[in-house]
Amino acid sequence: MPYEVTLPGGYTVSDDPTRLDIDLIHRFLSEESYWAKGRSRALVERSIAGSLCLGVYRPQGQVGFARIVTDRCFFAWVCDVFVLPEARGQSIATGMMAAALRHPDLTEVARWMLVTTDAQGLYGRLGFGPYQEVYKLMAYFPPKTS
Ligand SMILES: CC(C)(COP(=O)(O)OP(=O)(O)OC[C@H]1O[C@@H](n2cnc3c(N)ncnc32)[C@H](O)[C@@H]1OP(=O)(O)O)[C@@H](O)C(=O)NCCC(=O)NCCS
Repeated sequence: MPYEVTLPGGYTVSDDPTRLDIDLIHRFLSEESYWAKGRSRALVERSIAGSLCLGVYRPQGQVGFARIVTDRCFFAWVCDVFVLPEARGQSIATGMMAAALRHPDLTEVARWMLVTTDAQGLYGRLGFGPYQEVYKLMAYFPPKTS
C-alpha cells in the first residue's frame, strides 16, 4: 500500500513510484533547478530508482517532488526538492517534508541531512538547523572520467 497524506487545497503526497511523472521531474531538474542543470534523463531515472521519492499531486498531475536517499535506519539525505512555480506559497513543500519525516519506513532514522542555498526557513520550521559539527564532515568528488 502506498503511503499517502492529504494536504490542504486538494493536494496528495504519495510515495507510489508508479505515479511519478519522470518527464516533469527531468524537465524541472535539468532546466529550472540551480543544482541539477543538464542532468540527463538516464541519471534522473537511476537516482529515483535508488531512492525513496515523494510526489505531490493534484487531479491535473504532479506539482511537487522530493528524493530521499536513505538506509531507512540511520541516515536520510533529502535532495531534489521542488514545487512547480504555479503551486508555490501554499505550504506544499512544508507538507511534503512533514510527510517525509513521518513516513512509516523512516520513523527510526537517526539523522536527516540536506544542503540548501536559500530554503533554511522552510526546513527550519520542521526542526532542521545548521550542522554544528560541520568540521567533521568530509566529501569526495571523483574526477569526471567522461
Ligand atoms: C523552495 C520551494 C520548494 C518551496 O515550495 P513551497 O511549496 O512554495 O514552500 P512552502 O509554501 O511550504 O513554504 C515556503 C517557504 O519556503 C521558503 N523559501 C525558501 N526559498 C524559497 C524559494 N526559492 N521560493 C519560495 N519560497 C522559498 C520561504 O521562506 C517560505 O517561508 P515562509 O512561509 O516562512 O515565508 C519552492 O519555492 C521551489 O521549488 N523552489 C525552487 C526549487 C528549489 O529551490 N528547491 C530547493 C529547496 S532546498
